[in-house]
Amino acid sequence: MADLRIDFCGVPFKNPVLAASAEPTLSAENMKRVIETGAGGMVAKTVTDSEAMRRLTRMSKWRYLDEQHNVCRGKVPRLFTFYGRSGLAEEEPEKWMEELKEARVAAERNDCVLIGSVGGTTLENWARLSRMVEDTGVPLMELNFGCPHPSEMKGAHTGMLVGQDKNAASEITYAVARAVKIPVIVKLTPQVADVVEMARAVKEAGASAVTVINRFVGFCLDIETGKPYIHGWAGVGGPWVKPLTLRWVSKIHTGLDLPISGTNGAYDWKDVVEFLMSGASNVQLCSVVMLKGYGYLSEVIQGLDQFLDRKGYKSVKEIIGIAAKAALTYGEMEGLPPERAVINKELCTDCQRCQRSCFYHVIEVREGSVTIGENCRGCGICTCVCPVPGAVTLQT
Ligand SMILES: Cc1cc2nc3c(=O)[nH]c(=O)nc-3n(C[C@H](O)[C@H](O)[C@H](O)COP(=O)(O)O)c2cc1C
Repeated sequence: MADLRIDFCGVPFKNPVLAASAEPTLSAENMKRVIETGAGGMVAKTVTDSEAMRRLTRMSKWRYLDEQHNVCRGKVPRLFTFYGRSGLAEEEPEKWMEELKEARVAAERNDCVLIGSVGGTTLENWARLSRMVEDTGVPLMELNFGCPHPSEMKGAHTGMLVGQDKNAASEITYAVARAVKIPVIVKLTPQVADVVEMARAVKEAGASAVTVINRFVGFCLDIETGKPYIHGWAGVGGPWVKPLTLRWVSKIHTGLDLPISGTNGAYDWKDVVEFLMSGASNVQLCSVVMLKGYGYLSEVIQGLDQFLDRKGYKSVKEIIGIAAKAALTYGEMEGLPPERAVINKELCTDCQRCQRSCFYHVIEVREGSVTIGENCRGCGICTCVCPVPGAVTLQT
């Protein structure tokens, strides 16, 4: 068995699979269910001083959509879209701290790390709520600069409205990092031009780590009724968003010396491996847990463990960032040995699909037979559209 333990901001985790801040961590009772799965940790639902954001959770609406963006009924495909709206923790802060304390005690007993999460509306309240969260005894806290819903609400200046404003994000991070002793993780929004710049700004202001990344706001609709699902705009994401998230995970990993917690787009153990190889030290799952239930987290941990064994990795730490470090710049790619496509005449059925997809016009059909010209630049599209394994390959 590979060693699944990781260290994040000086806090040991028994494995890197976490439940994200959301409905699966909405109460002490829910958080205890995460603990039972053997997850390395979890982020509690975000506590807030915003009455509007607390109320929004009472009006929660979610839909799983299929690849055509139709509402799923029973069967949810792997590349689902999760379209939904909910607010932050429903309890007022004082009451929420009781939930958090109860969950923290249970988590500690089971070697599970509970991370607090804060979403204030004023500088004073960010600091005040953070101190309250620290007083519950949690070892880490996340600042929610990514919640997409405040952009559609009146009177809830929090979440991504903060995450889109570099000055506000820096100011709040600085105030919180001075107000508490535990490490502060900033959860970023994808809805900025340059996430690395925002990560750099919060690092300079005192963040010990970043969570990359919260969800987008989207608009999904039903053409039969001519109306949007769940009455309007909502948060949108799902496993299809993973490549966009991994871009920022890998860029922050290679560009900044800052630990990363990954979220937004992980479905299974393979996705967790991708997040880790891109540079995340741990991975938070949400919408797939809401789809499959808490027990699914145990399957993800098991799948990760089996993968590491199969590949001969002794520790999960060995894979953190390896793909990000292997990525070449476009300039470096110019030094690679040239490749070209080669047809295996014994396997080729002359179906001509490769020729239809060759936009450099180097694949010709002569007397019904496919040939590849000298000027092939090895783009590789023919190897993807060819229906016969091995009939066309790239060679240097
Ligand atoms: C229903 C729902 C509620 C959420 N609530 C919060 C929250 O309170 N605080 C927060 O930081 N993120 C919240 N998120 C974002 C998740 O923590 C997570 O980052 C996001 O869903 C991406 O992960 P996924 O692709 O595994 O779903 C919520 C997401 C969903 C879908």
